[in-house]
Amino acid sequence: MGRLEANFDGETVIVTGAASGIGREVARRFGAAGASVLVADVAEEPKDGDVPTHELIEDEGGTAEYVETDVTDRDQLEALVAAAREFGGVDVMINNAGLYVGGSVLDLEPEEFDRVHAVNARGTYFGTQVAATDMIERGEPGCVVNTASISSSHAQFDQVQYDSSKGAVRMITRGSALELAEHGIRVNAVAPGQIATEFLEGWTEEATEKAASDDLLKPVPLGRAGTPEDLAGAYLYLASEDASYVTGEMLYVDGGWQVF
Ligand SMILES: NC(=O)c1ccc[n+]([C@@H]2O[C@H](COP(=O)([O-])OP(=O)(O)OC[C@H]3O[C@@H](n4cnc5c(N)ncnc54)[C@H](O)[C@@H]3O)[C@@H](O)[C@H]2O)c1
Repeated sequence: MGRLEANFDGETVIVTGAASGIGREVARRFGAAGASVLVADVAEEPKDGDVPTHELIEDEGGTAEYVETDVTDRDQLEALVAAAREFGGVDVMINNAGLYVGGSVLDLEPEEFDRVHAVNARGTYFGTQVAATDMIERGEPGCVVNTASISSSHAQFDQVQYDSSKGAVRMITRGSALELAEHGIRVNAVAPGQIATEFLEGWTEEATEKAASDDLLKPVPLGRAGTPEDLAGAYLYLASEDASYVTGEMLYVDGGWQVF
């Protein structure tokens, strides 16, 4: 089977959480499709110690810049969007930065709850706010693509705090799509299933055992974990003109997990 050819020549794309994992591959694909890419992350180096994402994109002939950004801080998000103006202004905002915090609803500390919600929910909310405000001020409506999760709609053991933060991403996507449509701005989300990255450091053995024993983590119908390469095309599609009549949508890329 062939691949769709994407063309984002002349467009500026911000990808948060782009140092590693899914965001890194999404940033790379936009760079290969001709976009100027702002790689926004708290870290410049990827978790596996490989070459930084902006250098990878440049090595492949693209245009990219690393902008150190903590998405929990709205001032830093505003500075990020201001940095995009040097490339003409943000056209596509990918709110992808996220973290996983495991733990039971019976004993999680308030600080841990706040930490995961600050990145996953608040980072997505204010990332959307600052990008949309800039698009409206420039009179250049673009689009937002958020990274939701299978956890936006499916509960698993020992991760109510993560699931609720991703449930928030689902409703931030839908509510923002509703409000921003009159400005011509589309807002969608990609919902990954189980993806092979270095993300699940906090996943406990206990949680895995419980999930298996209660048959909640059903086998993925396609029979394998996904890869960042499996996901990236969904972001390009949702950000493209081919998705011009798609907004408020959550596109599952999960090997069929959510059909259970
Ligand atoms: N891997 C999976 O199985 C899976 C499944 C569903 C959803 N997701 C979501 O996909 C997104 C990417 O996850 P991944 O698997 O690539 O994980 P990852 O850990 O490889 O990458 C996450 C990136 O986010 C960055 N980050 C963390 N906190 C940040 C902050 N405050 N500000 C800016 N950047 C920050 C990290 O430095 C890292 O580069 C996350 O939103 C995650 O919730 C992942």
